Amino acid sequence: MNAPHLTCPDPSDRPDLWPWSARRHDGVLHIGGLLATDIAHQWGTPIYVLDEGDLEGRALTWVSAMAEEFWDGYGMGGGSAYFAAKAFMSAGVIHTVTAAGMGVDTASLGELTCALEAGADPDRIGLHGNNKSDDEIRLAISAGERGIGRIVIDAPAEVERIATIARQLGRRARVMIRVTTGVHAGGHDFIATAHEDQKFGLSLVSGAAYRVARAVCETEELDFVGLHSHIGSQIFDLEAFTESASRLMGLAKQLAAEGIECREVDLGGGYAITYTAADPVPPTQKEVARSLATAVREACARHNLKVPHISIEPGRSTIGPTTVTLYRVGTVKRVPIDEGERLYVSVDGGMSDNIRPALYNAKYCVTLANRAPTGPTALSRIVGKHCESGDIIIADTLLPADVAPGDLLAVPATGAYGHAMSSNYNMLTRPGTLAVRDGEARWLIYPETVSDLLDRDATLNPQ
Ligand code: LLP
Repeated sequence: MNAPHLTCPDPSDRPDLWPWSARRHDGVLHIGGLLATDIAHQWGTPIYVLDEGDLEGRALTWVSAMAEEFWDGYGMGGGSAYFAAKAFMSAGVIHTVTAAGMGVDTASLGELTCALEAGADPDRIGLHGNNKSDDEIRLAISAGERGIGRIVIDAPAEVERIATIARQLGRRARVMIRVTTGVHAGGHDFIATAHEDQKFGLSLVSGAAYRVARAVCETEELDFVGLHSHIGSQIFDLEAFTESASRLMGLAKQLAAEGIECREVDLGGGYAITYTAADPVPPTQKEVARSLATAVREACARHNLKVPHISIEPGRSTIGPTTVTLYRVGTVKRVPIDEGERLYVSVDGGMSDNIRPALYNAKYCVTLANRAPTGPTALSRIVGKHCESGDIIIADTLLPADVAPGDLLAVPATGAYGHAMSSNYNMLTRPGTLAVRDGEARWLIYPETVSDLLDRDATLNPQ
C-alpha cells in the first residue's frame, strides 16, 4: 500500500507543501535553521512553528506580482494586496506583511484593533462583516486622520448606519460594496461565499449591489471607493476568479454609465495552497496575478472602461504554508479493523488546535520529525486528546510501524485557520506560535497556560 494521499512527501519532494526553509538533515526535520527536536525540547509541544522568511517572501511576492501585473505603465490602474488577517492575526505577522507592502483586511473589532495597535497604516486597512457593530464602525471611521481606507458594505441598511456614525464623528467614511457575483467555487460549502443563497454581500443579478452603490453616492458622509467580491476559499481554478472579475467589471460599467466611478475593485482572497500530496501544485502568486490582470484588462476593453486599481485579499496563501504544527506522540494503540489493524496514534493536541478536519473534512498529512520515516509502515490514524471520537487530525496515513511514544510528528500547512480557529475545548491550552528564522526563534503568540484559563473564571476570581 503506497497511495500518495497516505504519505507525506519531504520538503525536497513537494516544496509547495512546506515552509521554504524546511529541510530534512540526517533524518531530522529543520525549520528556520532549527532542528524540530530542539524546538520541541526548548519550547514544548504542541506548537505552531512559523517560518518568518517564508511569510515575508510570500507577502513580498503578492505585493510585487500585483504591482507588476497591474502596473499603470501598461494602462492599468495599479495593483495591491491585503493580508486577510482572519487566517492568522498577531502584531508580529502584521509587522512582517505590512513591511512587505501589504494592507490588512480585518473582520471584527479585535482584528481591527490588533491591526491598528500593530501600527498598520489606517489608509491600508479594510473592515468586513455581515453584522458590524457600532463599535467596529466607530473605530473604523475614527482611526487615523481619515478613518480606515475601506469599510465594505454588506447590506443595504449599512448605508444609513455608517453615514450616521460618520456624521456623529464629523468625518466621511470610505466604503466599498461587497458584491455576490454568482460564481460559486471551490472548497467546502461553508467556505464558499459568492453564490446567492448565503449571508454575505449584495447580489449583482438582482440589482441590489447597483442600487446600494447609487445610494452610497447620494450620501454625503460616504465616499464610494468601489466594488468588492470574495468568491470562496481554497480555490485552485483560476477561471472562477477571472469570471467573477469580469462580472464585477460589468457592474462597474453599469455604474460608469451613471457617472459613478469605481476607483478600486477588490477581488477578495481564496487562492489555494497544498495540504497533501494528493493536491495539485497550486498556481503561483505570479500566475494568479497575471490571469486576474488578463481578465480585468479584457473586461475593461470590452466595456470601454478605464482599468481601476485592483486589489486582492489573500489570507491562506500568504500564511498557510509558512507553518508546521509539531506534536509529541503519546499513546499508540493497535485497533483491529476489517482489513487488519490500525494504529491509533494519539498526540498532545487535536481538534482544539486544528478544527478544520472535523469542521470541513479537510485533509492534512503528517510525517515523523525527529527521525527519518523509514522502514515498514503501518496504517495509522492521528488523533488528538479530546473527549470526542471525531477528534481526528488525519484519518488515514502510513507511518513507520515502530512509531512510539516520544516521537515527534509534523503536520505542514497549518498557518491559516489553525490558531485562528483554535479553542479551549476540554480546557486544553492553545499552543503558542513560534517564529523561526536563520536559527533564531521568538514567540509571536505565547502558549496559553492553565492559569490563563482560570483567570476568566469569575468564581475563582471574584471582583
Ligand atoms: N476576503 C474575505 C472577504 C474573506 O471572507 C476571506 C475568507 C478572505 C478574504 C481570505 O480568504 P483566503 O485567501 O484565506 O482563502 N475558515 C475557513 C476559511 C474561511 C474563509 C472566510 N473568508 C477555512 O479554514 O478553510
